Amino acid sequence: MTDLFAKFAIDPWRETMAEGAILLRGFALPFEDRVLPALREVIAQAPFRHMVTPGGYTMSVAMSNCGAAGWVTDRSGYRYGRLDPETGRPWPALPSAFLALALAAATEAGYPDFRPDACLINRYEPGAKLSLHQDKDERDHSHPIVSVSLGLPATFQFGGLNRNDPVRKYALRHGDVVVWGGPSRLFYHGVTELKDGDHESLGRVRINLTFRGAL
Ligand code: SIN
Ligand code: FE2
Repeated sequence: MTDLFAKFAIDPWRETMAEGAILLRGFALPFEDRVLPALREVIAQAPFRHMVTPGGYTMSVAMSNCGAAGWVTDRSGYRYGRLDPETGRPWPALPSAFLALALAAATEAGYPDFRPDACLINRYEPGAKLSLHQDKDERDHSHPIVSVSLGLPATFQFGGLNRNDPVRKYALRHGDVVVWGGPSRLFYHGVTELKDGDHESLGRVRINLTFRGAL
């Protein structure tokens, strides 16, 4: 098998999703031992909360942030802010383990200049979902999005520039990393309702980290 992969330059751990978008299977696994304790520390300082959309809908995904800026939504809109509105304090700094993972994945995906200043942390419990949307509140779209999946598996939908473009579905498992940028930076994406399960290190939950260049 190895010869066959070498001959046709197929890497079973890399999947091209679109121009500029790539799925790196298991890429975060070597970082896990440093990332999980760092995640717990961040959440101790900036607990998960269910934010409200401008339309008044309470999101099923619970969120927190770390980095110079954090993504928030409330009745007045979506934006990045330097302070956690729940605590009034700056968001916790990006842990070095998070930064190391984000830079390594971006480099692997062809974005060696990526310097994230924000990390949105999503917590999905069984039944939680994230409808199709674009990540467009960041100021500079030349930075890619680096998205790390931890815990329970989820179905990630990845479409195109228009909301109605057909979507492809990808099963994202613990340790998988998706990077999208360049021509696919503004592609619609979402996560279907999380199925129940029990993950060996995280339990009944999926955590997603998305690194962004926000400011
Ligand atoms: C997001 O779009 O911000 C999160 C995607 C995911 O949870 O995989
Ligand atoms: Fe997103």
